[in-house]
Amino acid sequence: MTGRIIGTGSFLAKTRVTNDDLSKIMDTSDEWIYSRTGIKERPIAKEETTTYLATMAAKAALADAKVTPEELDLIIVATVTNDFVTPACACAVQAELGAMQAQAFDINAACAGFMYSLHTVYAYMQAGLAKRALIIGAETLSRIMDWTDRSTCVLFGDGAGAVVVEASETGILACDQGADGVRGKNLTCMNRTNNNPLVQTDTRLQYVKMDGQAVFKFAVSEVPGSIKKILEETNTKPEDVKYYLLHQANLRILQIVAKHLGISMDRFPTTMDHTGNISAASIPILLDEVCKKGMLNRGDKIVLSGFGGGFTWGSCLMEW
Ligand code: UT7
Repeated sequence: MTGRIIGTGSFLAKTRVTNDDLSKIMDTSDEWIYSRTGIKERPIAKEETTTYLATMAAKAALADAKVTPEELDLIIVATVTNDFVTPACACAVQAELGAMQAQAFDINAACAGFMYSLHTVYAYMQAGLAKRALIIGAETLSRIMDWTDRSTCVLFGDGAGAVVVEASETGILACDQGADGVRGKNLTCMNRTNNNPLVQTDTRLQYVKMDGQAVFKFAVSEVPGSIKKILEETNTKPEDVKYYLLHQANLRILQIVAKHLGISMDRFPTTMDHTGNISAASIPILLDEVCKKGMLNRGDKIVLSGFGGGFTWGSCLMEW
């Protein structure tokens, strides 16, 4: 037994902020951002919460799958920007949907969070522990950005993507995931410093801090190997895969991965021009856009792959 995606949905924060908008409030330019990353604009939340974005994406995925909330037995939300320390975003979404038969928990694996969640659902379904699962990647990253740090704040956006996975004979064929906590110090957000009366709190630590080049090098060194591993495990040639749906951090990372695999860029669909990097939400948003454009047919093989804070990474080969 494995798991098959039977529905997708996504929901972006309503307000779009373009590169030109950013260049009016900081020392940056459309030319710099677009040529270095492939990003043109990003959705930024005003009143939308992570729970709201997650719930809206979930409702769209459930409608697409023709599954009712009561039929779900598992809800996982991948996020680093839950509205609360507790309860988990998955519990808040469960309440919003009325999915009272479902167990619910969050996974924090940053930009690889959706892949870690998919791997978890795969394991649940292989073990016969779940029949219908909802996985959501949801983020309001704009609230953990240092808006005086142009090297990070221009990259990220706010939104959510969701999939419904059903236990099935076909679907997910292989998964790989890994972590490297030693290199993880290059991308951090320490948002709960000790503020008891005995210590002083450094509030500057409350925002994302990233060594972009270290993350870039990590991504291009780990992702091709992770994808090759699942292809080899399943005797699949890179050209047998119709689309490679990768985390939308930087177009240049995708170009390097494509080159490593010997695959042309037209098999690497993108959303980053209008979404920016939405961390755990980026892969399910991309998958939803690909589905809504009618680009996938039953039996197509696709690879999903994510990488980011932790460091963490994860890849999955599936038959549609
Ligand atoms: O989701 C996973 C997490 N994140 C990632 O995957 C990010 C991976 N890394 C990257 O995408 C790239 O490293 C960045 C897009 C973050 C940066 O691109 P880069 O080509 O590595 O640029 P850089 O950091 O080497 O900076 C080059 C120059 C610097 O100026 P000097 O020192 O050469 O004078 C920066 O100060 O660009 C400057 N710079 C900017 N200029 C205009 C940095 N940010 C900006 C900006 N606008 N927003």
